[in-house]
Amino acid sequence: MTGGAGNAGTGSTGVAIADPIIAARSTAVLEANWRKSHTVPAAGLYPHQWSWDSAFIAMGLARISPRRAGQEMDALFAGQWDDGRLPQIVFDPHRDQEYSPGAAFWQSRSIPGAPASVDTAGLVQPPNHAWAVWRIHQADPGESRRRSFLQRNYPKLLQWHAYLSGRRDRGNSGLAAIVHPWESGTDNSPLWDTAMTRVPADCKTELKRPDLRHADPGERPSQKEYGKYFWMAERYRDHNCDDADTDYPFLMEDPLFNTLLAVSELALADIAAELGLPGTPHRKRAKLITAALEELYVPELGCYSARDVTDGSVIRKATINGLVPLLLPGNAHADELLATLNGPRFMAGNALLVPSYDATAEDHNPALYWRGPAWFNMSWMVAEALEGLGQTDQADFLRGNIGRLAVEHEFPEYVDPWTGAAHGTRSFSWTAALALETTYQRSRP
Ligand code: SER
Repeated sequence: MTGGAGNAGTGSTGVAIADPIIAARSTAVLEANWRKSHTVPAAGLYPHQWSWDSAFIAMGLARISPRRAGQEMDALFAGQWDDGRLPQIVFDPHRDQEYSPGAAFWQSRSIPGAPASVDTAGLVQPPNHAWAVWRIHQADPGESRRRSFLQRNYPKLLQWHAYLSGRRDRGNSGLAAIVHPWESGTDNSPLWDTAMTRVPADCKTELKRPDLRHADPGERPSQKEYGKYFWMAERYRDHNCDDADTDYPFLMEDPLFNTLLAVSELALADIAAELGLPGTPHRKRAKLITAALEELYVPELGCYSARDVTDGSVIRKATINGLVPLLLPGNAHADELLATLNGPRFMAGNALLVPSYDATAEDHNPALYWRGPAWFNMSWMVAEALEGLGQTDQADFLRGNIGRLAVEHEFPEYVDPWTGAAHGTRSFSWTAALALETTYQRSRP
């Protein structure tokens, strides 16, 4: 890797000294998962470039190589569509047999407005990209300015956000809607269960499950869920991904997705200011999203939830997606969200990291993907929020566990929130990147 750790966002004074074991082992995972222009989330299970994975990965990579973090974002933006969307996956043409659905499924080059030089999925993922671009800049402003990093990326980020706030505001509510559970990044979250009952499972594509070669079937979505995932992806693709299909059965407003959109708008305000442009429109937009999210707050759960755009109902389930709005500055429900975080549904006084789903729910499963286990990116975002609220002890507690559990369990994809037992695949890139990030954050002078 190139670049020095000493200049990597150490705060206003002093030089950060990261835990050498966490730093070395995280770096080794990121190095092993690097593929010329981007990082794969995991060598076997996820052999292409994933959108929000790359943004989290770049935030950690920026600590040791701001240049490589910038390349990561460049590779992702090479997949941007004419309508501004940043695709969920940019495919590696040499790996199409190893993941399904791949480039042969999407046939993106035959869809109007998709890029001509790379194959991509037609769906998107949560918009953490402007946030990542700003953090990469902050890691080494000199390198960023030499490469016109913000200048190059600002217009692309504007287009990306315009797509989400325009064509994806399917409910005319000021929030972006997702059209597939994969777009939430939290694929089999209980938030999507009701909407999924409307989705047929009889897809046309033969269901291959290469994922099950790399993770225990009991820790992955079921075959029935996959039939539905493919049905939706086929239908979206067959309508040229045009967001104009009025009978489409899955349209959800997700508090996690929209929180990241607002956080990224605030990052755009900082980027604009650095470029000598007005930041006010971005701050206003962040406020509008924050205000629109209020309709997704469920007082009896003490957190936000998702809204079904097809009938306007708000789902009554407590998930990590509904706690992440703690990141929104000045959140009017911060105290209630903190109480929920520390109550029986989540940390329950003895969790090591934040569960993805209500621990008091009968169907909570601490090993099953987004239906219970703790994910490192979510606990990292909660720690960011806690620090913003002045709860530095708990932020450090989570950050310490992120680094320790990552190293002790070979950088797992997700873990049991209470025992720390590893689940999913190993050598998972965002686990490594965020472990790296936390070790620098915790060593802050
Ligand atoms: N998370 C999905 C998968 O498991 C893709 O985004 O393949």
